[in-house]
Formats: sequence, structure tokens, C-alpha cells
Amino acid sequence: MLRMYDLIQKKQNGYALSEEELTFFVKGVTDGSIPDYQISALLMAIFFKGLTEEETTVFTECLADSGERADLSAIKGKKVDKHSTGGVGDKTSLIVAPMVAATNMGVYVAKMSGRGLGHTGGTIDKLESIPGVNTNQSREDFLRIVNEIGLCIGQSSCFAPADKKLYALRDVTATVNCLPLIASSVMSKKLAAGSDCIVLDVKCGSGAFVKTVKEATELADLMVKIGTRAGKKTVALITNMDVPLGRNVGNSLEVIEAIDVLDGQGDKDLTELCITLAANMLYIANAADYDECVRAVTKTLHDGSAKKKLADLVAALGGNSDYIYNPSLFKESKISAIIAADRSGYIYKMDTELIGVAAAVLGAGRMTKESPIDHRAGITFHHTVGDYVNEGEAIATIYTSNISKAQNGMELIFNAVKISDKKPEPKKLIYKTIGGKF
Ligand code: URA
Repeated sequence: MLRMYDLIQKKQNGYALSEEELTFFVKGVTDGSIPDYQISALLMAIFFKGLTEEETTVFTECLADSGERADLSAIKGKKVDKHSTGGVGDKTSLIVAPMVAATNMGVYVAKMSGRGLGHTGGTIDKLESIPGVNTNQSREDFLRIVNEIGLCIGQSSCFAPADKKLYALRDVTATVNCLPLIASSVMSKKLAAGSDCIVLDVKCGSGAFVKTVKEATELADLMVKIGTRAGKKTVALITNMDVPLGRNVGNSLEVIEAIDVLDGQGDKDLTELCITLAANMLYIANAADYDECVRAVTKTLHDGSAKKKLADLVAALGGNSDYIYNPSLFKESKISAIIAADRSGYIYKMDTELIGVAAAVLGAGRMTKESPIDHRAGITFHHTVGDYVNEGEAIATIYTSNISKAQNGMELIFNAVKISDKKPEPKKLIYKTIGGKF
């Protein structure tokens, strides 16, 4: 008979767990028969001793099997999903899913997304900042919407229930930041969600779970291997999260910024990353050669077709698509305030995790799973790393609902942005790819 005590001790001593043991563990997490303290103890042992590639693959499949696996066979073409490992200001899903669908190249976006937690944002919260949007569609409605308009965004939380439980425990036991646990967590939901192809955006830098390109490469490699072994065409891009992506952090602010990109008038880096991600989604689904995919997705930003797809998605989810054509309908927050430079010089560094925390403090994110969100709260940056600013010049504007949140958020942002006489070396937007193109 298997006992959790023995599994914990075996991992503590650095040995690999067998398929039988991992299956026992995930089953016990799912049915509630293993107490939280033993689950947490094993997570901590894994945090220190790791999992082999073989263990990680088996563990991922067990997690994916802890709930339902989606059957997407009712969707007529190739199905592609895209996933970011989490960042600050990352609104790419709202842009790339409509771009891919708008090309009409026979590739369907059946995208599963999460909510924000801690310093990172989530696509579901961003979409829900549009009045009326309901991302909790039935499986039948999800499939119908993908078939009708070429894309849909649903909630990944309905998959891999064991991961949900483990993630909640990792979040309070300081065991989130562990490569095999991150890889298995992300990939279990992607495998259960059922798409044929997966594009991973592995974020790297001060606002990401992994801080160095070396660590991000290890994570990306592992996730690509897991996806490929499961028969999914999987590629990963490793991208910069040492600055917030785009100029806005916060739910409705990010939707408005996404609309700017869909109008062909968005932030340069954000637009470039979206074109690269969308082109890779088409490319790995064998829609065309890579250059042709780039041309096709770029066109959707200039002929209004990607913006129309976002409006179609919002309407299909029960939302008011007028907001997409007229973003001034989004209500402004009660309080706004400017953060000014306290000296002249170059913006040398932005502690992006701290900026994510500041956004959450202002009301844009949640510190616990239950906290409510203020969809209007957030930050607009008027400058980014490498820009020269004069003393007194506005660096950012914050939006929130009360004075004490404003004070706390402003202090955090002030501490996050470092100004120096020295101009920083420019960093790459996309560091490398595993299996994809850029
Ligand atoms: N996103 C996930 O879904 N899981 C992790 O462990 C980290 C990021």
C-alpha cells in the first residue's frame, strides 16, 4: 500500500517517484483524501529536489487527467492555443486570437485563459472589464462560437482540478517558483484544453516568474518536450518582461490599449510581439510559410478585420461590442494622479514585479483568489526604460478608487522606477525561440 509519508521521504532523499506514486498523489489531491500538510510537504520536497523530465511528463498527464479533457473534434479546422507564463501589462491574447481568426486561413483559436493572481494579470479579468462579457460558456457554446467566428476565450480553471488545488497551496507555501511545477501546471491545462498546436510565451525578467534567460530556456525546453510527447505541435518564445508590456497595466486600460494595436496604432514592442506570436500560431498549424503568416496577420491590423473579430468575440460572449468601436465608453476611475520624475536622467530600470504589485494595490489585481477587482484601476506609463526625462516630467498616471490606495500604489511605482545619468543598454524584445520563428 502506498503512503504519502514514504513519497515525501523518497523525494526528500532525491529519488524519482514512479508513475504509480505520482498517480496516487494526484488522485489523492483530486479526491481530497490527502491532507494539505502532506501535499505541501511533497511540494516543498519537489521544490528542493526537482523532478526528472520523465517524472514531469508523467505528473503533467496525471494532472491533465484529474478532470475532463476537452473534445474539440466538433471544430472544423486546426485548433491552436497560446499561453503566456504570466507578466505585467500582457494583453497579447486579446490581440493575437482575433488576428489569427481574422486571417481566415483555416486555423481556429480555442483559447483557455486564467485570472490574474499576485502581481500578474489575467485575460479573463481583462475581458470581463467589458460590460456584459461572460467567459463562463458551456462546452457546446464554446465550440459553437469557435466554429462561427473562428475564436473563443474560455476559462482554463475548468480543467485540471488537481492543479488548481496544488497552485493554491504553492501560492501560500512559497513553492510557485519551481520549474517542473510551473511546467506541469501550465501544460496540464493546455493538454486538457485539447488544441492541436500550442504557442508558449515564456516571460523572462523582473516581472516574470523566471528572471534569467537561462532559467526561461530550461522552462521553455521542458514545456515544449511535454507538449511534443503528448502529440501536440508546441513551440515557445522567450520574451522580455523586464519592463511592462505596452504602456498600460490594469484591466480596462489594457483592453483600450489592445484596441489601439488592433487599429494599427499600438505600442511598437507590443505590436511586434503580437505579430510574432500570431504568425507562429498560424505557422505551427501549417497554414503557410512563416513570411506569409507574418504578412497575413499584419494585414489584419490595417484593414480592421482583427478589430472586428474582437468585437464579434465580445458580442458572442454576451458583451457590449460598442466598447470595442468606441473605447471612450469605458468609465474612468474616480481618482487619477501623476507620478513625476524627482530628477533628470535616463529611466534605467523598472522593477516590473513591483509595478505589478502596485497595479494590484491600486485595485487592478487580487492578492487572494477571492478579492474583488476594480476593472478601471491601473497605471499608464508615459515613458519606458531608456527614455530621458526631465525633473518634474510625468512618468506615469495612476487610476484608482480611493486616496490610501493611490498613496500606496504611487510609493511602490516611485520605488520601482530608477533614474540614472547612465543610459541603459537596450534589451531584446524576443530573446529566443524553441521550435518557432521570429
Ligand atoms: N501559470 C500557471 O498556470 N502555473 C504556474 O505554476 C505558473 C504560471
